[in-house]
Parts: sequence; C-alpha cells; structure tokens
Amino acid sequence: MRVGVPTEIKDSETRVALTPQGAAALVRGGHTVVVQTGAGAASSFADDAYLHAGASLGSAADAWAAELVLKVKEPLESEYGLLSANTLFTFLHLAANPPLAKALCAAGTLGISYDTVQLADGSLPLLTPMSEVAGRLSVLAGAHHLQTSHSGRGVLLAGVPGVPGADVVVLGGGIAGSNAVAQAVALGAHVTVLDISVPQLRTLDTRFGGRIRTVVSTPETVAEAVAQADLVIGAVLVPGNKAPVVVTHQMVLGMRPGSVLVDIAIDQGGCFEDSRPTTHSNPVYTVGKSLMYCVANMPGAVGMTSTRALTNATLPYVVRLADGVESAIAADAALGLGVNTQAGEVVHPTVRAVLAGF
Ligand SMILES: NC(=O)c1ccc[n+]([C@@H]2O[C@H](COP(=O)([O-])OP(=O)(O)OC[C@H]3O[C@@H](n4cnc5c(N)ncnc54)[C@H](O)[C@@H]3O)[C@@H](O)[C@H]2O)c1
Repeated sequence: MRVGVPTEIKDSETRVALTPQGAAALVRGGHTVVVQTGAGAASSFADDAYLHAGASLGSAADAWAAELVLKVKEPLESEYGLLSANTLFTFLHLAANPPLAKALCAAGTLGISYDTVQLADGSLPLLTPMSEVAGRLSVLAGAHHLQTSHSGRGVLLAGVPGVPGADVVVLGGGIAGSNAVAQAVALGAHVTVLDISVPQLRTLDTRFGGRIRTVVSTPETVAEAVAQADLVIGAVLVPGNKAPVVVTHQMVLGMRPGSVLVDIAIDQGGCFEDSRPTTHSNPVYTVGKSLMYCVANMPGAVGMTSTRALTNATLPYVVRLADGVESAIAADAALGLGVNTQAGEVVHPTVRAVLAGF
C-alpha cells in the first residue's frame, strides 16, 4: 500500500505521524512510503533519515494522494481540498468539529480517529500518551502563567518554607488529570481532584495517599473548589462526545484575581463555559480577572517527546492498516471504534448522535 505522511500545519505543531523507524517497518512489509519534505524536522527527524529508511520525499499533494494518509492533528480548513476517498488515520475530535465532518463525508474519506480507538476495558490507547503529555504540561503551563510577569497572581506553585504553595484543582482524574496531579504534587502544590467516578478517585487516593484531596464532582463541589483555586486544570472526557461544561462563567468571575485555568479538554470543545481554542503563539486570554489557557495541541510544544510517545502507540495499528484497511478494521474491534466517517456518512455512534443536531 502507498502510505503518505504530510507535514503538520497547525500553529506551532511539531509532531509528525511516522518516525523513520516506522517508515522502515512499513517498507520492510512491502509498502511504499512518501513523506512530505521536512515533515519530521521539528521532531528532529531529518529528511535523510526517512530516505535511509527506504521512504521517498514529496510534496503535500503527494503525501495526501496516498491510499493511507497518516497525520497527527485534524485537517485544517486549508487542507480540506486535499481530502479524498482514501483512508485518513489521525486525531479528528469530530464531535467538536461539524465542518470537518462535512468535509470528510463530502470527500468520501474513511476517517479513523485516534481519539475513539477504544479497547474493551474502555481505555483509549492512542489518546493515552498525548493525555499523559498534556496532563504533565498543563501544570507547567499553569505555573508559568501564574507568574506576575505573565499577568498571573504571582504565586509559586511550590511555595517556600513559611509560605504555602499554590492551590491546584484538577477536574477529571483520568489519564490527563492523574498526570497533572502527579506533576502538581511533585512540584509541592496543594492538590484537589474532582471526578464523577468514585473508583477513579479511589485509585488516586491509593496512589497519592494523604497528599491530595479527592472530591466527587457535582456543580456545587466544583464551584466551591474553583473559588479557592490558584490554578484550575480541566481534564474531563466523555469518549466520542463533546466535553461537558463543568466550570461556568459565573464560577470564573468568582475566582481569585490572577488565577489561571488550563482547559486540556479544549480539543473536545472545552469543559469551561468560556473556553475557546488558543494557540501556542497566543495561548491565553482574560475572563473576569482570570487567565484562560486553551491550547488544543499542547503536546506539539514538546514534539521530540510527543512524536515518540504517539508513534509508539500508533505504529502497530498503522502496520495492520497498511496490510489491508478493511481486514484490519474487521479483525480489531478497538480499531473499528476508531472509524468515524465512511462512504460519505458519520458512522461512530456517539459522534453521529452529537453531530445529528448540526
Ligand atoms: N489539549 C490538548 O492538547 C490535549 C492533549 C491530549 C488530550 N487532551 C484531552 O484531554 C481530555 C482528557 O483526556 P483523558 O485521556 O484524560 O480522558 P480519560 O477518559 O482518561 O479521563 C477523563 C475523566 O473525566 C471524568 N469526567 C467525566 N465527566 C466529568 C465531570 N463532569 N466532572 C469531573 N470528571 C468528569 C471521567 O470520569 C474520567 O475519569 C480529552 O478531552 C482529551 O481529548 C487534550
């Protein structure tokens, strides 16, 4: 099969969907790989490394014309003209993006989304590594913007002897949330985590013992926690669905001046009422007296780590898809759940239900 790897064009995106080692694995399997010139550069993979692996270099159009196109982020509007009736394997986050759903259906693309590939135990093996990165980064981004020079309230996450550290509230204690908790605890902050799942809170309680507070998430408990927070991290997810709004505008207006909110769930539409996507070039805006950070491709800030983490997870699926898309989907229920668009229709049940209103 001919496999194409376009360059990512989202603002400050540094990841690439296939490493040279991945390209070599596909070539060994008898496939042809065309990588857009320079696609791996920001992840420290030179064009020569792909050539050495047996891939060829080409234009964006060459990469997009392949039978199987591998990307990291969802196609942007400027890429819609490159969509075709081939197979696209990437993050789509379609529930939050009706125009992209329409474009994929109009082009007849078989769209397989990393974020809905789901194992029998409910876990999301291709989202997990990026949630791990985003969870850890969220605390570092929050700590950065809490500094006075970045318009924050001038609070050091760790505090110092005699002065307490910051109050960090994490909403959603799944993969991103638990990684945020670990990072914030490691930095010496006071951490409260809220989740609707008591088993999830039990796991976190066992892991962190008395070093964190766990609270069941309700509108009342969220309002109370957010009002006391220096840094709020939103990390909730209902797989395939738009993120639920957990923090309302009124709650933000009641927050401490200079507090920071990081919405990791922005790629699913955001879990704060005031969230709108921002970019690495211009990551924050003000609501009331608080700063909102809503970068939809957070792992792109650390492409060398993120590309390796993502492709560790995606490559086994890529190899099977290259051997035969239909047979790979038929043989693997988890991959089957990744199929979002097929033959001009949105076919993932949750995504289809969410988009029905558009
Ligand atoms: N911005 C980025 O760059 C980036 C990168 C990676 C992941 N993400 C996003 O991060 C989000 C979280 O992903 P994850 O892998 O951690 O998901 P996950 O499924 O592991 O965890 C989500 C948690 O949210 C909880 N939850 C659901 N509704 C809730 C509510 N109302 N209140 C409190 N908790 C609630 C669930 O019980 C679950 O524990 C997703 O939207 C994902 O797409 C964003």
